[in-house]
Amino acid sequence: MKAVIFDLDGVLVFTDKFHFKAWKALADELGIYFDEAINNRLRGVSRMESLEIVLERSDKTYTEKEKLAFAAKKNEIYRGYLTAMTENDVTEEVRCTLTKLKEKGYKIAVGSSSKNAKLILEKVKLLDVFDKIADGNDIQKSKPDPEVFLKAAEFLGVEPESCYVVEDAEAGVIAGNRANMKTIATGDAKQSKLANYEIQKFSDILNIV
Ligand code: BG6
Ligand code: MG
Repeated sequence: MKAVIFDLDGVLVFTDKFHFKAWKALADELGIYFDEAINNRLRGVSRMESLEIVLERSDKTYTEKEKLAFAAKKNEIYRGYLTAMTENDVTEEVRCTLTKLKEKGYKIAVGSSSKNAKLILEKVKLLDVFDKIADGNDIQKSKPDPEVFLKAAEFLGVEPESCYVVEDAEAGVIAGNRANMKTIATGDAKQSKLANYEIQKFSDILNIV
């Protein structure tokens, strides 16, 4: 058996722009500088680890309680953007490619650091398309640790060596490589040149697997 494991934010859906806007709103409120380059470091990284990166630019130190409140605030703003999502937020190209992969006999899964993954998949009507979902609720360590991808492979019952990982995050590509999976980079992840393959458009996956 073979499988393709997809990252969610920035690969299947463009929720990465919502993460950016929500972190930016929080950073602005705290008077902390934040830009796209800093945001790219948050790709694939858990919510609390992302917050630590955002706070690097602050000269204040915050208590754990304050940090939890900041993360909750960011998540509230982020989830506000998610409420407007519909099936139109997934392209035909993505849906068609997933169908073709299944026709080719691949198992497909999501491997995401997000605790909002199932909510998003439900909103865009992709929840039933995937055989399995491993997300931020299933793991102790987020990318670049390989845990989420190894969990997805375990849920599918497919050996890691028989899995491809599609990622837009450098941390995600490193996680896929550490999991002994073949990695396919899209978007920002192409810059680091760490993946086995690169794609220009989503359907290019069909020329690789
Ligand atoms: C990843 C995103 O998919 O999920 C990260 O790339 C994000 O930017 C992480 O921090 C955690 O997301 P959430 O939805 O649990 O806050
Ligand atoms: Mg991503």
